[in-house]
Amino acid sequence: MAYELPKEMQEKLKEVVGHYPDPMSAILPGLHMVMEHRGWVDGEACDHVAEVINVPPIHVYEAMTFYTYFPRKPVGKYNLQFCHNIACHLRGAQDLIAYLDEKHGIREGEVTVDGLFSLTKVECLGACGNAPMMLVRDKYHEDLTVEKLDELIENWKKEAGNGHK
Ligand code: FES
Repeated sequence: MAYELPKEMQEKLKEVVGHYPDPMSAILPGLHMVMEHRGWVDGEACDHVAEVINVPPIHVYEAMTFYTYFPRKPVGKYNLQFCHNIACHLRGAQDLIAYLDEKHGIREGEVTVDGLFSLTKVECLGACGNAPMMLVRDKYHEDLTVEKLDELIENWKKEAGNGHK
């Protein structure tokens, strides 16, 4: 069955359309709803958003492919979007990314067997002054060290174990 947002989210998205003179303005809110619901976006999801807000699907595809924020295949519950751009690179991002693989088995392009973690390397997220950093579930984690990574991962494992969504 083709992907669809839950009915209540579809209704909310239709409401968003009404806030703007042009329904195209609801494309990003629609893609964010897919992220909130499923955590990743593909062509089926784009078609669905296009249908709900009544715009040509190509415009939704264009938005999806422009932003690295939208993963295009399944990711872990905690997708570590790790900046590897210049400031983060100079402050050790590559070493931390290697550490995540060695210590925690979290590596780029893969989802851990428990479904909790995945890693995507991304370009500058505008927090260079606190490099190295990563974005996880809409929250920035900055001035990262191996100790901070260990703590964050342990906390997320506990959170997931408590049935937190
Ligand atoms: S280079 Fe990493 S946040 Fe700018």
